[in-house]
Amino acid sequence: MSATVGSADTVDATDPVVDGAAMRDVLGHFASGVVVVTANGPSGPIGFTCQSFTSLSLDPPLVSFAPSRTSSTWPRIRDAGTFCVNILAADQQHHSAGFARSHVDKFAGVRWRPGRSGAPILEGVCAWVHCRLHSEHDGGDHTIVVGRVLELAADHARRPLLYHRGNYGFVLPRPREEVR
Ligand SMILES: Cc1cc2nc3c(=O)[nH]c(=O)nc-3n(C[C@H](O)[C@H](O)[C@H](O)COP(=O)(O)O)c2cc1C
Repeated sequence: MSATVGSADTVDATDPVVDGAAMRDVLGHFASGVVVVTANGPSGPIGFTCQSFTSLSLDPPLVSFAPSRTSSTWPRIRDAGTFCVNILAADQQHHSAGFARSHVDKFAGVRWRPGRSGAPILEGVCAWVHCRLHSEHDGGDHTIVVGRVLELAADHARRPLLYHRGNYGFVLPRPREEVR
């Protein structure tokens, strides 16, 4: 894994103060999918819900996501060194809520199979991406994690779960354009 890159403190005294509530409200307009990042921990499967996932690079094949510095699961996934990003399907809102809880057995009643190195692939996901931890970077109160893709697959029949302004949604087929 690459070394953590420190942050340059570029804060200027004249910078306006940006309110956290405004950040949440305005940036909530950016719609995303929802993933559950899983790993094979020392005492069983672990995972957490995440919307900050994105495809980063094709060559080399990299993806990224940003766990909060308060996440209790991320340090354990880091220790595992490999993880699986599970892209949730439209009917898996319960997994989004279930894996967003802290300090509980998040896998109780969850059907999954071990992927490469044992990281869980949840049953019924749209797609999964198996990664090795590539690097970590400073992201303020979050950590920017970069994963090197080792293996990936998709179920093209499934539609993704979406997250927008604090609510869940799903993709509708595009309406046919009116013929004039
Ligand atoms: C839809 C949704 C998206 C989330 N996205 C993130 C995220 O991008 N980064 C993050 O740190 N937490 C995110 N969370 C919150 C974490 O899932 C939650 O804080 C975490 O699972 C807490 O568990 P832990 O202490 O086991 O890490 C999200 C939660 C939900 C419901």
